[in-house]
Amino acid sequence: MGQPHEPDEAGTGSGKPALGVGMVGYAFMGAAHSQGWRTVGRVFDLPRRPVLAAVCGRDEQAVRAMADRHGWAAAETDWRALIARDDVDLVDICTPGDSHAEIAVAALAAGKHVLCEKPLANTVEEAETMAAAAAEARERGQMSMVGFNYRRVPATSLARSMVAEGRLGTLRHVRVTYLQDWLVDPQFPLTWRLRKEYAGSGALGDLGAHIVDLAQYLAGEPLVGVSALTETFVRQRPLPAAASSGLAAVTETGGVGTVTVDDAALFTARFASGALASFEASRFATGRKNSLRIELNGEHGSLAFDLERLNELSYHDHTEPGTHAGFRRILVTEPEHPYLDAWWPPGHGLGYEHTFVHQARDLVHAIAAGRPPAPSFADGLQVQRVLAAVEESAEKNSVYTPIAV
Ligand SMILES: NC(=O)c1ccc[n+]([C@@H]2O[C@H](COP(=O)([O-])OP(=O)(O)OC[C@H]3O[C@@H](n4cnc5c(N)ncnc54)[C@H](O)[C@@H]3O)[C@@H](O)[C@H]2O)c1
Repeated sequence: MGQPHEPDEAGTGSGKPALGVGMVGYAFMGAAHSQGWRTVGRVFDLPRRPVLAAVCGRDEQAVRAMADRHGWAAAETDWRALIARDDVDLVDICTPGDSHAEIAVAALAAGKHVLCEKPLANTVEEAETMAAAAAEARERGQMSMVGFNYRRVPATSLARSMVAEGRLGTLRHVRVTYLQDWLVDPQFPLTWRLRKEYAGSGALGDLGAHIVDLAQYLAGEPLVGVSALTETFVRQRPLPAAASSGLAAVTETGGVGTVTVDDAALFTARFASGALASFEASRFATGRKNSLRIELNGEHGSLAFDLERLNELSYHDHTEPGTHAGFRRILVTEPEHPYLDAWWPPGHGLGYEHTFVHQARDLVHAIAAGRPPAPSFADGLQVQRVLAAVEESAEKNSVYTPIAV
């Protein structure tokens, strides 16, 4: 397909080498990643200049419209053609999980850097293949990263550095919930997210993958075993209209199909250090839209984060006298806070979309420096192993299930 206009160069022409981005998938995450690539070079001083070279989707008219709207120079209808383009240095995968492995492995074999949305894959086996391909490609100077964007909220990034500094001391408890309610209506249609062959799992792989990664990242250590319950509350749903995608689907008249993934997953877990954790991932939490909360309790203090108040971090310093100790609110908008030296004056908060700008920033720096970015495909594989252990435990009446190493 032709090139109707000049590419959107995400940064002013500065003589810096270009980094051509080719993105596969153009709906929810496609729009969020486009925003990230478009904005990053205009906010941050980057060693390379991201160029929105081409976007790929299967519907020619729709992908062309998306390219025009979001500033992509060209549109492709076959991801193989996108990967083969000389102007694409980095392949950004924003499709459902069933295509992550095939696209990522092909892109790495073609010499491209890869950013892949979460969960890394639909199975441990696929994730192992991807991690092996990424390790080989790393030897050739190619970088791979998984899109666990909640690491890139300034407040969670600050929380990570406070844990690493030892502010919490020995960690005892981590408590995480990620709650949505878009499946409460039994008439919500059977989109790809409700079908195992496309999504791998349900709330577990979608929301659970995020909170497993975030908890391990903040704690700075892996989970070693889980005990789990999963449930599918509504087992039959109307079929979706052909053009339906993502969270805003519409029902086609007539016909129902079977839901083959979990609607909710609850599990307790043990960290390598012996700290305990509890996780709740649900699409049936009536009234909760995108509620991600995490609290960490340690011997010297506690930290708590709520995505609905993402410019804030709650901190309790237990070394202070009990008379005036207590949770206090840190407004994470100071220039000294992670990512914030490039944004607005203190108190002028950021939002969800900025996590994708920060994700692009960190990846461009890693590529330019030849330094592997995090979370790596190996990190994504480890999350996949946790998800598999949760499913195994749930199948075996919640028996404690060690996480494979
Ligand atoms: N990081 C986050 O916060 C976050 C949020 C939502 C979704 N996700 C992840 O992003 C990925 C995509 O989810 P989404 O919400 O954007 O889904 P979506 O349904 O909104 O979009 C999926 C896109 O992929 C395209 N697609 C599917 N198969 C394709 C193929 N073989 N070739 C080319 N295009 C193809 C579809 O046409 C569509 O454009 C999933 O892995 C999901 O888990 C991440």
